[in-house]
Amino acid sequence: MPTVDNPTEKTLAELGVNDAQGVAEKFAEVRTRFDRQVAFDADEIRSLMLHEAWLGSDSDPVTSLRNFWVGRKAGVLTLITENWLKKSPPSLKGVVGKQFNELKTHIETKLEEQRKRIEEKTEAAALNREQVDLSLPGVIRPVGSHHLIRQVFQEIEDIFFSIGFSIVEGPEIETPYYNFEALNIPEFHPVRDDMDTFYLELPKGAKTPLLLRTHTSPMQIRTMEKQKPPVRVIVPGKVYRRDNPDATHSFAFHQIEGLAVDTDITFCDFTGTIEYFVKQFFGPSVKTRFRPSYFPFTEPSVEFDVSCPFCGGTGTAAAGGTCTKCKGAAWIELFGAGMVDPAVYGFVNYDAKKVSGFAFGIGIDRLAMLKYGIDDIQVFFQNDVRFLRQFP
Ligand code: PHE
Repeated sequence: MPTVDNPTEKTLAELGVNDAQGVAEKFAEVRTRFDRQVAFDADEIRSLMLHEAWLGSDSDPVTSLRNFWVGRKAGVLTLITENWLKKSPPSLKGVVGKQFNELKTHIETKLEEQRKRIEEKTEAAALNREQVDLSLPGVIRPVGSHHLIRQVFQEIEDIFFSIGFSIVEGPEIETPYYNFEALNIPEFHPVRDDMDTFYLELPKGAKTPLLLRTHTSPMQIRTMEKQKPPVRVIVPGKVYRRDNPDATHSFAFHQIEGLAVDTDITFCDFTGTIEYFVKQFFGPSVKTRFRPSYFPFTEPSVEFDVSCPFCGGTGTAAAGGTCTKCKGAAWIELFGAGMVDPAVYGFVNYDAKKVSGFAFGIGIDRLAMLKYGIDDIQVFFQNDVRFLRQFP
């Protein structure tokens, strides 16, 4: 409530008013005061509240002002009714009543006008605040990029795609049949030792053990089971081995399997195809060579080497000294491959007398490391953006 002098807190007699003239003057006084206040906006009312030290209980100054004038309990209009109207001498009742009604209508209309005015102003201010400034620079949300491994997959897929291979994918959880047996690796064959791997824990009574595939070769079998020759596919994917992590080993890595089977595929087609691939991938100046090797599902089997792309196949670094990439060997071992062993055709009902073909299994991580000069396979799996950003 206001602490400044408020005439409506007193009766007319106390104010020394005893005729119609005096009544009109008092009402005019109140009305003038009201008119001044109702012209204010919210901020002005707030400073008036401070200035005149009548702090309404409402946090909103407009409501405070409203309560001050028309509040049911102690608003000015109620005070006038109580102190002036009810307590006026009978001779003045008519005048006071008339003046009161006029003032009441005036106050209510003006307060409503004020409310609307302030509301519109606040709305306009909000609209103004929320306006979008189209000239502001946008928020930059960086778009990620493909992981280097995915990029290398893509590169290799494109090369084989261009020479008529199609791409198939297969399950990472395999049965021993596809991962081993059908690839001519019977249960106690020693090469299984190299691939000693992750078996899944299965409920008791499960029909067949399951494992994380150790290579993409099971897809050779799955593809030939589904499809009659000619077959020309590559199989990109993840493989798993129980290897301890170091700079060249990881429990998960990536391969691309290749398989071509037809009625007249020779060793020449095989060498031509992978030489083409290697020259596309590393550049035309690299030289290639085969070394005899062994895989149960290829015969003959080879290791495929490329002349070291870093020292130009000299074994000597450009700055002198031994090339660190090939360790002076001048050659780098790339991947295993070979002509499909006829025994494999037996597992997929191909006629080994009529068809022949070749297969290869490229280690993607190794190839990516060679091509991009990366010396630790672990960086592919750590997902450090400082590494990834170098290959946008
Ligand atoms: N699967 C073999 C490995 O992972 C590679 C390979 C594939 C060899 C196809 C010959 C033919 O080591």
